Amino acid sequence: MSRQLSVSMMCIDFGNLSDVLDMFREEHVDYLHIDIMDGHFVPNIMLGVSYVDWLRKVTDIPLDYHLMVEDPVSKLDWFPVRKGDIMTVHAESGWNALSALIHIRKLGAKAVLAISPQTPVSSVIHLLNYVDGVCIMLVIPGYSGQTMILGMEDKIKELAKYRDEKNMKYFIEVDGHVSEKNARELEDCGADIFVAGTSLLGRAPKNYRDKIRAFYST
Ligand code: DX5
Ligand code: ZN
Repeated sequence: MSRQLSVSMMCIDFGNLSDVLDMFREEHVDYLHIDIMDGHFVPNIMLGVSYVDWLRKVTDIPLDYHLMVEDPVSKLDWFPVRKGDIMTVHAESGWNALSALIHIRKLGAKAVLAISPQTPVSSVIHLLNYVDGVCIMLVIPGYSGQTMILGMEDKIKELAKYRDEKNMKYFIEVDGHVSEKNARELEDCGADIFVAGTSLLGRAPKNYRDKIRAFYST
């Protein structure tokens, strides 16, 4: 699988958003990453249903939902999911992570299980038959602009090794502190889809296009 980019929309300047979305399409951005935070599962509150409904009207770029919420199962039907979208729930959401993964596949989206930095790969092995992908959080979920937690490359390698050994097909997504500077190294560890917010794009919209090109070309 060739390297794919999922732009973190909570990091994108809200001014001139339509123009920025057109540019993302021109640059063949693979996904728009939508961080949904409920103020409970993580201490922050971010991006809601009306925002996603609007995005759906103005762009056809696939959406990559990242649910950082308690009880994700009860919220899956809130979103305008399309075939080809990614819907991610956290292993730390508890017993209902499996129910959520099964429900996501019924909706036609790619079911992805995210694991926070403190969660070992070994604790989710029993769920891998129910996923299309695994998202390894490289930072503590909740905020952009953080530095990668030590040891995350080893988790990517462990998950990639297991995939090879068992001849499984899940993709590996990485989220947090991704940039053109570490994309190659993370890819060599086994990552396929890269979520990038301020760490790649910075905060100035005028630089977004060059940064995206740098990501795809390094
Ligand atoms: C963090 C979010 C990330 C975040 C990435 O909880 O899940 O998607 O926006 O932002 P950067 O690239 O700034 O780490
Ligand atoms: Zn995210």
